[in-house]
Amino acid sequence: MAAPVRKAVFPVAGLGTRFLPASKAIPKEMLTVVDRPLIQIVVDEAREAGIEHFIFVTGRNKSAIEDHFDRQPELEQALAARGKTAELEALTRDLPAPGETSFVRQQEPLGLGHAVWCARELVGREPFALILPDVLVQSKGKGCTAQMLDVYEAHGGNIIAVEPVPDDQVKNYGVVSIGEGDGRVFPIDFMVEKPAPGTEPSNLTILGRYILQPEIFDILSAKETGAGGEIQITDAMIRLLETQDFHALKYEGRTFDCGSKMGFLLANVAYALARPDLGPAFAAEVKKLL
Ligand code: G1P
Repeated sequence: MAAPVRKAVFPVAGLGTRFLPASKAIPKEMLTVVDRPLIQIVVDEAREAGIEHFIFVTGRNKSAIEDHFDRQPELEQALAARGKTAELEALTRDLPAPGETSFVRQQEPLGLGHAVWCARELVGREPFALILPDVLVQSKGKGCTAQMLDVYEAHGGNIIAVEPVPDDQVKNYGVVSIGEGDGRVFPIDFMVEKPAPGTEPSNLTILGRYILQPEIFDILSAKETGAGGEIQITDAMIRLLETQDFHALKYEGRTFDCGSKMGFLLANVAYALARPDLGPAFAAEVKKLL
């Protein structure tokens, strides 16, 4: 039986240059989709999947993330005094329990692979989920990470969530080439990070959700640089593919790349429309705007 996946790594050290000036004094992961910060939404997704420990790879000026997952006694007292029990309950419900979070600093922006490597001591020698908070997946049923853990239980090894994107966008992502599968889960036989146009092995891109085995850290320790002069997680996965199985999952759900303004705006619209308390009235107002 495959070893259980108990921990998730969230790389949150990025500067967020695409969201300036909004991300000047607050981390981009604290930008909100309706009333929940991006980082909270992906932590919720991990928790729904049964993840027990949340590891954040942070950088300078990211302390708001640590504060967000801490108690706020003054606020809690104020809410209690005003009888706002629903808000108080929601605040406490969202919090990981004491000891369930860890924070480590990346120190230098050397790439996603380097950020993941910074979590090696906190993860230890066990499989883990890697979740990029820029990418939200709105699912009808189980969340993307829970879907991936189902596939992991069946296949073991390493799992990558993939989605087809229009041909002209493939160059912005890690890309996989797959063998024969069942329409949903496929063995991966090749990967490449940000392929030059014309050299793409497929239009199936790596979305930002991974289940990885700890041997990835051994490969990342070599600190080899790849696309963009950065230490790439995809390059380390290509090496790991020489000795371990990787499966791609075409997950159920709609993806929003909140690293881009368009994706972030669309996420806000989609998540607002899906909210029972806001959706109908919001839809009516948006129709008027259009
Ligand atoms: C990273 C990964 C890439 C993946 C993408 C998903 O790229 O390196 O393989 O497809 O995230 O968002 P970045 O967006 O950091 O350039």
